[in-house]
Parts: sequence; C-alpha cells; structure tokens
Amino acid sequence: MKSFIFILALLPVTAIGAGLKVGFYSKSCPSVETLVQQAVAAAFKNNSGIAAGLIRLHFHDCFVRGCDGSVLIDSTSNNTAEKDAAPNNPSLRGFEVIDAAKKAVEAACPRTVSCADILAFAARDSIALTGSNLTYKVPAGRRDGRVSTKQDAVNNLPSPLSTAAELVGNFTRKNLTAEDMVVLSGAHTVGRSHCNSFTNRLYKFSNASDVDPTISPGYAFLLKSICPSNSSQFFPNTTAAMDLMTPGALDNRYYLGLANNLGLFTSDQALLTNATLKASVDEFVKNDKKWKKKFVKSMVKMGDIDVLTGTQGEIRLNCRVINSGSAALELTTTRTGSSGFDQI
Ligand code: HEM
Repeated sequence: MKSFIFILALLPVTAIGAGLKVGFYSKSCPSVETLVQQAVAAAFKNNSGIAAGLIRLHFHDCFVRGCDGSVLIDSTSNNTAEKDAAPNNPSLRGFEVIDAAKKAVEAACPRTVSCADILAFAARDSIALTGSNLTYKVPAGRRDGRVSTKQDAVNNLPSPLSTAAELVGNFTRKNLTAEDMVVLSGAHTVGRSHCNSFTNRLYKFSNASDVDPTISPGYAFLLKSICPSNSSQFFPNTTAAMDLMTPGALDNRYYLGLANNLGLFTSDQALLTNATLKASVDEFVKNDKKWKKKFVKSMVKMGDIDVLTGTQGEIRLNCRVINSGSAALELTTTRTGSSGFDQI
C-alpha cells in the first residue's frame, strides 16, 4: 500500500495527461529543445513581437482539434485550412520560426519530432524571453494531425466579442476551468491587436453611446487616434499594443490595466462582469508571482488538450504540409525499429 501511494505521488512529475512526458526526446533527439530555443531566440532578436505571436499560435493550435500542429498546415486548392480562417488570418504570426526550428531539428534527428511539440517548446521559449526567464518543463510526445479546416477554427476559437459565459463555455469544452481562462488571458500582457478586434467598442457601440462606457475615455481617445472608424477597410494592418503599460513584458500588468478600464477587447472587459472571474483578476493584480505560477501550470494543461500520441497521426516532415500517403506509410513501417520512435 505504501509503495502504491509512493508511485502515485511520482506520477504527475513524469507522465502528465494522455501520455505526454517530460524528456520524451531525451534519447531520440536530445538536442531538440536547444535547437528550438535557438530558432526562437534568433527570431526574437530580429523582432521581439514574435514571442507573443508564438504563444498565441500554440493556443490556437490547441483549441482546434487539440495540440496537433494543425494550425501550421497550409491551405490547398481544395481545402481552406485553419490558418486562413478569420480569427487567424492575417493576425497569426510565427509560422516561419516554426519552419526554421523544424529544419534544424530535421537535420539533427530526421522524422522524429512532431511539429506540435516544436510549437509547444517554442511557446515556452517565448514565455521565457518575455517573462524575465519564467520557464517550465514541457511534456512532449504529441503527434501531428492530418486535418485542418477553416470551419473548425471558426467553431472553436473564442471571439473578442464574447461574453463571460461564452468564454467560460469555450474553455470548459476544452477541459480548462474558468480560472484557467482568466489565468491564460493574462497572455494579453504581451503583443498586439489589429483594429478590427476592438473597434466595436469605439464606434457605434450602442444607441445610447458611441463608445463603450466601460472603457476608459482617455484610452478610447488614444485607440481612436490609432484606429479611425474606417481603419478595417483602409488600414487593415494597423495594430495597437494590448498592454499599455508594459507591452513587451509578460507580467501581471494586464490585470492592473483591466481593473482600470484599460482592457482592449469586449472579451477582456468581460472578466470583470462575473464575481468569480473578477475575484481572480483582483488576486492577480495584487500578486505577479502567484499569477506566473498559475500561468505556467495552465499552459501545460492547455498543451495537453486532445493530443494525439503513440501511433495516432504522424510526424509531419514539413509543418505546412501533411505527409503524402507513401511518406506516412514509410513512417509507420519504419517506426518500430527506428531509434526515433523508441519512446512511443
Ligand atoms: C479568452 C479568450 C481569448 C480571446 C477572445 C482572444 C482574442 C485575441 C485577439 C482578438 C487578439 C488580437 C489578434 C489581432 O487582431 O491581431 C489576441 C492576441 C493575442 N492573444 Fe488572445 N484571446 C484569448 C485568449 C488567449 C490565450 C488563452 C492566449 C495564450 C495563452 C492568448 C494569447 C494572445 C497573444 C500572445 C496575443 C498577441 C499576438 C501577437 O502579438 O501576435 N490569447 N487574442
């Protein structure tokens, strides 16, 4: 009995969720995490905004068909893929960083590491680069999916117009709690948004008020100067930082902004409209350390959504393209003897 309890106590450390494992590639591709980190660091040096892009890319991967790299697949002549759905195009970024990481990883360990895992590592590395070295271990062993459709992205990604109830529903359908939702929304402490995600709050908001009365008037004035009413039509690429105070730093200022009516989206503001969600916001305003601890935990939980493992899916050779039938077959037949698959 004693040893049974001991084994149970050890379980969460090594095996989290559906078979993902910290150190999954320790034998088959020991350099993978270094190679991904180098690719992310090189891209970050060139454009620090890429870190926010990669964190969001992982989130959008995980919420649509699970964390299976399906967000990375390109559209083809007979399929519009997730990345070309309205919530993703033109705003998602970081695809070329994953391509660079995959190229380096394929050169070191051919046909071994999934694109989904590379993306999960890259999100972690982005958090470390923006969050004062905040880091965590990423359980790995995800396999890549072979399906990516625009409709799945539209159906599963939360909208910036969402109410609190819609947001909670969206996250609980992915086995994440309301608290996980508030905690993960803190990622809006870094990065940018295109105007069309928040102009609903600035122009023709309601019959009673042109501007959303819950947004700070000074902030609304600033946002209007960045995004004129016709910006979606004439300036579709214009963006605004999501955290006014520290736009490049992963910290709890997002919550401080929220509490001072400086939230950007209707969906951000929604976190104040429900007593339970607001209690979490207030907790994180006061305690950056506590939020960071919960944030990395929720990131790991998010990284576990509906993952493919074992013999499911494939190890995509090019993250943008599903393997052709023969390549997929070849992978399946070579996997048993190949050192690349010894942990499956
Ligand atoms: C709670 C529901 C959420 C909604 C409605 C939402 C919505 C959005 C929208 C509309 C944008 C701006 C896109 C643009 O127009 O450029 C954005 C950006 C961003 N989101 Fe979220 N998001 C949510 C949750 C999350 C979560 C859970 C994460 C990560 C854990 C995340 C990370 C980010 C990041 C880092 C950016 C900035 C991206 C960049 O700079 O390229 N969001 N989000």
